[in-house]
Amino acid sequence: MVTLKIDGRSVTVPEGTSVLEAALQNGIYIPHLCHHPDLPDLASCRLCLVEQDGSEPVPSCSLEAKEGMDIHTRSEKIDALRSLAMELLLAAHPAECTGCPKFGRCELQLLIQYMDASAARMRMRVKRVPTNENPLLQHEMLRCVLCGRCVRACKDLREVGVLRYNKQNMEVYVGTLHDKLLADSDCRFCGACAEVCPTGAIRDILNYNATEKRDTLIPCVAHCPAHAEVPEYVRFCKRGEFAKANAVIHEKLPFPECLGRVCNHKCELNCRHLDLNEAVSIREIKRACAENDDQFLWKKNAKQLPPTGKKVCVIGGGPAGLTAAIYLKKQGHSVTVFEALPKLGGQLQYGIPAYRLPREVVDRETSYAAEIGVEIRCGERIDRPVDMLKDYDAVLMATGTHSGTRLPVEGNDLPGVLVCTDFLRNASMGTETGMGKRVIVLGAGNVAFDCARTAVRLGAEKVYLACRKKLQDIKADLEEIEQGKEEGVEFLDGRTFDAAVGSGHVEGFRLSRIARTYTDGSGRSVVETEPDSQETVDVDTVIFAVGQRSALSPECGLELGRANCVAVKENSSAASVEGIFACGDAVTGTKSVVEAIAAARQAASEIDLFLGGDGDIREVLVDREPHDPAIGHIENFARIPRNEPAVASPEERRSSFSQISAGLCSKACEEAGRCLQCDLRFDIAPARPWTNYQG
Ligand code: FES
Repeated sequence: MVTLKIDGRSVTVPEGTSVLEAALQNGIYIPHLCHHPDLPDLASCRLCLVEQDGSEPVPSCSLEAKEGMDIHTRSEKIDALRSLAMELLLAAHPAECTGCPKFGRCELQLLIQYMDASAARMRMRVKRVPTNENPLLQHEMLRCVLCGRCVRACKDLREVGVLRYNKQNMEVYVGTLHDKLLADSDCRFCGACAEVCPTGAIRDILNYNATEKRDTLIPCVAHCPAHAEVPEYVRFCKRGEFAKANAVIHEKLPFPECLGRVCNHKCELNCRHLDLNEAVSIREIKRACAENDDQFLWKKNAKQLPPTGKKVCVIGGGPAGLTAAIYLKKQGHSVTVFEALPKLGGQLQYGIPAYRLPREVVDRETSYAAEIGVEIRCGERIDRPVDMLKDYDAVLMATGTHSGTRLPVEGNDLPGVLVCTDFLRNASMGTETGMGKRVIVLGAGNVAFDCARTAVRLGAEKVYLACRKKLQDIKADLEEIEQGKEEGVEFLDGRTFDAAVGSGHVEGFRLSRIARTYTDGSGRSVVETEPDSQETVDVDTVIFAVGQRSALSPECGLELGRANCVAVKENSSAASVEGIFACGDAVTGTKSVVEAIAAARQAASEIDLFLGGDGDIREVLVDREPHDPAIGHIENFARIPRNEPAVASPEERRSSFSQISAGLCSKACEEAGRCLQCDLRFDIAPARPWTNYQG
């Protein structure tokens, strides 16, 4: 350590520290611009001048603190030289600040205020620098003051080396080799350049304020309902450290093997790589991490608080109920899960077909609850949750939506008309579905495709899928549409559902082509059909896949809301009766598995609080390691195509419920390497403006 005096104050810092850092770290402000604590110093802006024992002013960023130094940060001479340095910086900077998206967050703007520099000095000349349009990052080099932070961040911090100083028309500017687009220059789009840029010269295309920054720049985490730490587990996967990756996943998501196959992956839909070419295959990476985990750190390091003596009854053994049960057990409560059906898993077991989600995977992941001591009682239906309060301190309703909806069309009660929930459950259980040989599925979501593709596998000779919207506008996943088509499903899109026809049994389904839909003056939706377009499709089975609802009735003793869902208090999981909580589809109507899991985590936290705990269900299942800031140079990085899993051929698929996707297998690490690591820039030290040093 060395001790020196700065403006009469004695400060002690480790050897090798610069005088500027010694001052800043001890609450003494010295103006600076080109200096950044994470970058090697250039000493080019000359704003950080100091005097040592009356000597000539020198930049303090490149002056090493030494024992016994006597440093002065202000003098007439220093002020004059700093003003001159500032004038040089401002000479080619645009005069208007208010039009800059960085207005209010610009370090240069704050320095101008600190030094009381005159804006009139700005833009004595106009820079002539090349411009080009890039995804994610905006380069507006007219605003550049050549502090060089971006070049050093790219070269020294990230070891990518894309940004450099160029010269054209006697003008030095920051650009790329031959002024190529960033994507053509092997840029890794890590955002470090924008993070360290003190002005609005290099900035993110997306605008955000301080509170929105993290969610905007790491959208995979923000859009995951459970906020799983996606970049963290993707990074572990890239290094082949699957056990660590799986532990990170398990901190927020209890069933990664299932989710790795069926999650609706909002993370991917919002991945910033989409702006370059294709999203990182986050869902498949999750699956690969879980499948390749051979150490199970997530089990070994799992939290287990001492017993509280409190008892919780969870009604429903689907993803929501089991998630809540697992977290409540870890909080020390005694938990019993009641499941009406013979096996655990809810929609994972009885809804999503086995060709997408093999049942041995469901059984393996759902068995963890029993492994940690949750009591499982399958085949026991609880109709009155209020009665359970006699034996339990809290009750959680996680009963899902198991009742299929029939649209009010003529013939909807004919024999041969089925609903999606019953059909898929019977198919999963291997029991009679009531399906004939020619099937029409009505609906446009993933469940409709599950029904149609299940019908194909059960041996239907002809399967139609009819929907009101045009195929390109339906909400089912693209892969469902493509794979369904390959398996022989015929689409009747843009059709009305007029009637199921037949005497004694379905003999056909009548529909018409939709010409247009619009909203009339009273706000009613009007469907206009094409003249003479009505046709009757020759089918013997109609499957409604137009929505599911809760099977609860008012006799359950709880206040119910829309579509018989459990009514809960605002921003809470608490139902109308004290001690009873509800979460997942039972509250919201049918949503995704990951949303059910996120809701269950919230409910578990609330129940723990209700039972006297602190409500903190978080756990760290693997220690985080310091991130390596040097991501390195990768040729053509932005153009590397997404790795897709191997999928069985349509011929193989049509006749079997065997899993159709083999996952990424050995390509998982490579795919993880495509991640932009958007979170890394948050490791970069934030700016230290003079306003932090007041008083
Ligand atoms: Fe020291 Fe620029 S010369 S901060």
